[in-house]
Amino acid sequence: MPVITCIDDLKRIYRRRVPKMFYDYCESGSWTEQTFRENTSDFDLLRLRQRVAVDISERSTAGQMIGQDVSMPVALAPVGLTGMQHADGEIKAARAAAEFGVPYTLSTMSICSIEDVAENTEAPFWFQVYTLTDDDYMRRLIDRAKAAKCSAIVITLDLQLLGQRHKDLKNGLSAPPKLTPKTLANLATKWAWGLEMLQTQRRSFGNLVGHVEGLEDPASLGAWTSQNFDLTLDWKRIETLMNMWGGKVILKGILDAEDAKMAAKLGADAIVVSNHGGRQLDGALSSIRMLGPIMDAVGDQVEVYLDSGIRSGQDVLKAMAMGAKGTMIGRAYVYGLGAMGQKGVTKALETIHKELDMSMALCGKRRLADVDRDILLVPEDFEGRWQG
Ligand SMILES: Cc1cc2nc3c(=O)[nH]c(=O)nc-3n(C[C@H](O)[C@H](O)[C@H](O)COP(=O)(O)O)c2cc1C
Repeated sequence: MPVITCIDDLKRIYRRRVPKMFYDYCESGSWTEQTFRENTSDFDLLRLRQRVAVDISERSTAGQMIGQDVSMPVALAPVGLTGMQHADGEIKAARAAAEFGVPYTLSTMSICSIEDVAENTEAPFWFQVYTLTDDDYMRRLIDRAKAAKCSAIVITLDLQLLGQRHKDLKNGLSAPPKLTPKTLANLATKWAWGLEMLQTQRRSFGNLVGHVEGLEDPASLGAWTSQNFDLTLDWKRIETLMNMWGGKVILKGILDAEDAKMAAKLGADAIVVSNHGGRQLDGALSSIRMLGPIMDAVGDQVEVYLDSGIRSGQDVLKAMAMGAKGTMIGRAYVYGLGAMGQKGVTKALETIHKELDMSMALCGKRRLADVDRDILLVPEDFEGRWQG
């Protein structure tokens, strides 16, 4: 068992273990990947303020997200095709999250279905909804989330069109993978992944197969979905979906103060400042840069979470110090899952928790709830002087 000390260690094991097609799917941004890169490098521009001579013997990272107790405010973000990173990946990630006391979000584009995850886990999870044009399908999807007792829906707003990731096209990404000579050659080096995959029946899009009329061929399901993303999506339709659900709603993919104001006006329980991990609009600013202006606009009206670029507990601490009430991680837990299944997700959460707890303490804070901008050193032009 290798010594794992940071998220990067998990990423190295993940890369060795999982087929290239799925590693590339995760580890890419759209077009030039500028936003993908800056999501992480912009966190490095922020510095923490070291404080001493404070009693830090009793500490807590606990808090609440949408009224739900959490051991630390770090939810697992919705990630499509998680069940291709590791057999039964969604169930394993959801179990690890529940044991750790943080929320898990199941993607519409998951391999394990909503029902499957509900049957195989104890704690309620959040369900992420992509808005598709097929109204009938949307209604049934929301009813299925209700029947599975999901505690919130996360409506993703930044994917009306699918951002282009060059590697996905070049690799011929599909679930399950098409057995071409190139993929077969690569799969031959990933035998542990393959053996586990052979032992599960969950190898296609569980929320779509059998639920979309006339679409029984798994290979065409991904294409069907991307053709059915709702290009007409507007605030009125978001409100309709919120009413259809009737429970807690998190609006994800907000990167602009004006959009944040609209989301708060609609009565969302929380918003996620996110650029989809740099997978959609290449050239957009990083989430951490946009957090300040969005906090100024709506921080007192709605819970504001942040994702995109978090790879450590220090990053979580920086986001919280900038005012976020919570965070989400995507790749950081996928690396763990791909590397070591459920144990790897737990390891990712433990790593981030340890870093968060220690960094908070060394900033002279005992409770995450007491963390504010005071512990942060922000370069003068961090948010930039952009001409609109
Ligand atoms: C491989 C992959 C698949 C994703 N699939 C979805 C998805 O199905 N739905 C969604 O709302 N966001 C999806 N996202 C975006 C994540 O929810 C989250 O916003 C992003 O991963 C945060 O950035 P990070 O990976 O740097 O933490 C995906 C991200 C990745 C890396």
